[in-house]
Parts: sequence; structure tokens; C-alpha cells
Amino acid sequence: MRKEKNIVIHETAFVTSAFRAFDERLSQDNFAKLWKNQKTEKWIEEYLDQVSSEETYTHCLRNRYFLDTVRNLVGSEEIEVLINFGSGFSMYPFLLEKDMIHIEIDKPEIVDYKREKVKDFQRRGILPKRTIYFVGVDFSTDYRDKLESKIDSIKGKKSSFILIEGVLFFLSRSETDSLFNFFDTIQKGGDYIGSASFQETLKDTIAFENLLKFFNQKVSKTNEDDYQTIQDEYYKSKTNYNLIDHQDYYSLSAQYENKINQDRQLILNENFYLLKKI
Ligand SMILES: C[S@@+](CC[C@H](N)C(=O)[O-])C[C@H]1O[C@@H](n2cnc3c(N)ncnc32)[C@H](O)[C@@H]1O
Repeated sequence: MRKEKNIVIHETAFVTSAFRAFDERLSQDNFAKLWKNQKTEKWIEEYLDQVSSEETYTHCLRNRYFLDTVRNLVGSEEIEVLINFGSGFSMYPFLLEKDMIHIEIDKPEIVDYKREKVKDFQRRGILPKRTIYFVGVDFSTDYRDKLESKIDSIKGKKSSFILIEGVLFFLSRSETDSLFNFFDTIQKGGDYIGSASFQETLKDTIAFENLLKFFNQKVSKTNEDDYQTIQDEYYKSKTNYNLIDHQDYYSLSAQYENKINQDRQLILNENFYLLKKI
């Protein structure tokens, strides 16, 4: 039998999109289904079976929280530009008001693929037109100066919301520090950061054990230390930002009336933080 090809990290973006498509009422993302493909479909089935069946709902609620947060801030005219770091196949540009500016940053192969697919969906009338700048960057390289001038040329003095979700788990602490320092450089007072990450207690759960086992088989990374967790203190201690909201899967489930099906041990509970620059 032919050995199945491993998942590469950027393919997790297909998986996250597929999760969002499972319950459109909850995620409010009626375009996520456009990224479904046969190759990842099988992994998704296995992942839900072997890691945690709750993952569809955790991802739907993550999207819903950030979508509603950005929508409200656009409504109160607090932000004009959404900068999505590790944007994958997120569909925020098409779910938000059409006059927003979007900067989508991810690995070159992801943004190149997404740009072409989006163009094609728009040509066929499946997606509406939006102002999106796709920028290919690897956060493990020295991207700072080039990315700063690129963002500056698009954003100018406009207010921004930086989103980083589903990404920090795969980055090192020093890459994360560099990113947050970079955010501080490109943002001004009143701007926002939305960030999603896991806390250290995640590593005590059966769901995390399952995840490690699954990644062991499908991805080349194997060690629990390869996956970054972040404590609340990290966000609270950012000197130029105030932490103004903190949610997790349980609080969002209560807020959006989502029925939790699994035991806590079988849920990868993600935390969501909203920071405002002072
Ligand atoms: C699980 S996906 C999440 C995508 C999207 N934010 C979402 O929530 O649907 C993780 C994304 O982070 C990107 N990523 C991971 N490591 C990266 C790096 N070193 N540089 C740039 N992007 C990276 C991957 O390419 C992928 O698109």
C-alpha cells in the first residue's frame, strides 16, 4: 500500500476552514466550505475521531468571536484595516463590510494559492470583490524591515486590528516576541490585537495527548515542547497594550448558546485575547 503523504503545517489551514464549515450558523462563515478538498477531507475525519470531536465547534466559535469583535469595532468606526497574520484560508474580508482594507500575511505558498483561488471565485461570481493585499512572509525569517514598509505603504496612518489565530501554537517564543514587538511598531494608540493561544494546562489533557499522537503520525514534529502555550501573564504584561477582553471555548459557548458535548479532558480549549494599544 502506498504510504500516505504527511500533513505539512500550512495544510492545517485547510483543516481549520473545514471545521468552520461544519456549523455555519455558529461560525457565520458561509464561505469556508469553498476550501474543502479531497486530500484534507480524510484527515479531518480522522482528526475528529482520534483527537477531539469538539474541534468543529471550538473553531466555529473562535471565528465567530473575532468576526463579531471586528464587526463591532468597524461599526463604531474604530478600525479601518484588518491585518491577519497567518491568515490561512480565513474569509473575514468577505464576511465584513466591503469598504474595509485587508492585509493577509502567510507563507508565500499559501498566499499565492489563495490569491489565485479568490480571483477565480470572484470571476465566477462566487465571492464579492474586496480590497485585499496578500503578503507572503515566513515568520521564522528576518521579515521586519521589508514587511514594515509594505504594511506602511498600504495602511498609512489608518487604524488597524491585527489578528493572529491558530498560529502561535506552531511558533517559538522568540518568533512570538518578535511578532508582538513588530505589532507595537506598526500600530498606534487605540489600535487592537486579537490573539488566540493555548494555556499550559492544555498539555495535561487527553485531547492534547491525542493531538501529539496524531501529529506524530501525520506531521514530522513529535515533541510536546514543539508546541507553544502562552499564559495570561504574557498578554497582561505587554507595556503598550491593555488586555481588554479574554474568552475561551467555555465562555463563548455560554455566550453563543453552544451545547458542549465532550468532557473537559477531551476538549482542546483555546483562549482568546483582545488587546488595545494605549
Ligand atoms: C491552523 S492555520 C490557521 C489559519 C487561520 N488563521 C485560521 O484561523 O483559519 C495556521 C496558519 O499559520 C501559518 N503559519 C504557520 N507558521 C508560519 C510561519 N512561520 N510563517 C508564516 N505563516 C505561518 C500557516 O501557513 C497556516 O496558514
